[in-house]
Amino acid sequence: MPKGFFVTGTDTGVGKTIMSMALIRALEMLGIRVGAMKPIESGCGREGDVLIPFDGMALKQTARMEEPATLITPCCFESPLAPFPASEIELRKVNIPAIKNAFAKLAQKYEAMVVEGVGGLLVPIKKNYAVINLAADIGLPLLVVAKPGLGTINHTLLTVKYALREGLTVAGVIINYTMPPENNLAEETNVQVLNKICPVPVIGISPYLKNITEEALEKTVRKNFDMQVLRRYL
Ligand SMILES: Nc1ncnc2c1ncn2[C@@H]1O[C@H](COP(=O)(O)OP(=O)(O)OP(=O)(O)O)[C@@H](O)[C@H]1O
Ligand SMILES: [Mg+2]
Repeated sequence: MPKGFFVTGTDTGVGKTIMSMALIRALEMLGIRVGAMKPIESGCGREGDVLIPFDGMALKQTARMEEPATLITPCCFESPLAPFPASEIELRKVNIPAIKNAFAKLAQKYEAMVVEGVGGLLVPIKKNYAVINLAADIGLPLLVVAKPGLGTINHTLLTVKYALREGLTVAGVIINYTMPPENNLAEETNVQVLNKICPVPVIGISPYLKNITEEALEKTVRKNFDMQVLRRYL
């Protein structure tokens, strides 16, 4: 059985890529040879005929992988949309078997995989296939990234409880400051409340990082991630 984590979020832009990079560092610090994947990426850049997956490339670089971007991100769209509408506009179907094959290939080589999802769990990939179905097919436990602040408890519980109800394993939640703290009451109480009522633990709180460097990510992991919980799934 492949090991690792499927990194999802309560929304797009909550820091899944940055937290996936931190997670790669965390697993490396545990002495694990880790690979990464962003199976589907929309809003890609373009160089001539080639689409450039920015998230996929960032993960490839962080994990120091030699595999081509086409294996790390087999499915690219240029439109900044959910994969389903992007595929309709760009007249290309998402090839799920190709994604599963790429994952299987990478999972064979690496001791653990960090796989970044797309947006949140109900983002449509095909008419009847959403990110949660991809997460189930990949089969790794989920980590849910959420932003702190008002609304976070609702968004986090919706994501966690839906995943659990659909039979997926959820390892935990990471609260990530994509912006400097506002030090408001919601931010100050989010984690306490989630620890009381969320069925899975908050396994990390990442501060706002002025410079997102390897050193900053390592420091974040060392100071703010519960490595014991991560280890349980490896
Ligand atoms: N801890 C942090 N400190 C500072 N900036 C951050 C942090 N986390 C995320 N960001 C910034 O917030 C923005 C969104 O982060 P990121 O790209 O990781 O989100 P995402 O969930 O992966 O988005 P997408 O759904 O597009 O894949 C980026 O500009 C990123 O640099
Ligand atoms: Mg991302």
